[in-house]
Amino acid sequence: MSSAFNPLDSQLLFTLPRCMHKKSDWTEHTPFAMFLVEILRPRLLVELGTQRGVSYLAFCHGVETLKLETRCYAVYTWKGDAHAGQYDESIYRELAERHRRYEPFPSLLRMTFDEALPKIPGASVDLLHIDGLHYYDAVKKDFDTWRPKLSDRGVVLFHDTVEMERDFGVHQLWRELSPQFPSFNFEHGHGLGILAVGPHVPQSLLDFLATANARPAAVRALFSALGRRVLLESSKEWLDRQPAVVRALTAIKRR
Ligand SMILES: C[S@@+](CC[C@H](N)C(=O)[O-])C[C@H]1O[C@@H](n2cnc3c(N)ncnc32)[C@H](O)[C@@H]1O
Repeated sequence: MSSAFNPLDSQLLFTLPRCMHKKSDWTEHTPFAMFLVEILRPRLLVELGTQRGVSYLAFCHGVETLKLETRCYAVYTWKGDAHAGQYDESIYRELAERHRRYEPFPSLLRMTFDEALPKIPGASVDLLHIDGLHYYDAVKKDFDTWRPKLSDRGVVLFHDTVEMERDFGVHQLWRELSPQFPSFNFEHGHGLGILAVGPHVPQSLLDFLATANARPAAVRALFSALGRRVLLESSKEWLDRQPAVVRALTAIKRR
């Protein structure tokens, strides 16, 4: 039975993710990540492109809070690339440390997306987050090669759907795919597209998409405001851990 999306029904939407330590282009979508876990209750979740783990740990936090049995995989080389830049081993070590509390269910697959393909059974993934290299050909390849892994409840998230710089091409793929499936696109936080690919996605997601498409400005404003709150809280957390910076700022303010 369908019913309109009511944010007040959500247990997680207004909570903060546990790991707000690292800001990323994804930070503003963490409330949606937790909410999505709540309404989908995925059995298997795969993230392609994890880096410091802002999105991945938000999914894990949702899974842990709701005591779901979701199996989570983060696929990434932890080496960087043309869009993300290069970085050192500490990024992986930090994430592995933070992620330890979520074991045994989540797994960090330190490899390329192609190498991870044989590790995930076909028709098994309920939630796939694609956030790898953002050129059109790369993101299209990620979608095409991972599509057979989607279950009949499969939902795909694309990050950077409104990013036009540095030859990003997610927006182009989004324009092609979004009319073919129930979908919605958030425009804050560089854009996040939700594509309900499976023929049997949960009714709760279809209800959300129906409300979002009927009242896009209101739904975008809600999730954008919740995202900004996480961004501000994470900046505050960071500042709290930098007493020297706070002292310097206070001194400037007094002048
Ligand atoms: C934008 S970052 C992910 C950000 C992350 N989701 C977050 O929450 O902050 C995307 C990463 O995917 C990696 N990547 C791109 N293509 C890849 C591939 N084929 N295999 C493994 N990693 C890849 C890149 O190195 C890049 O650092």
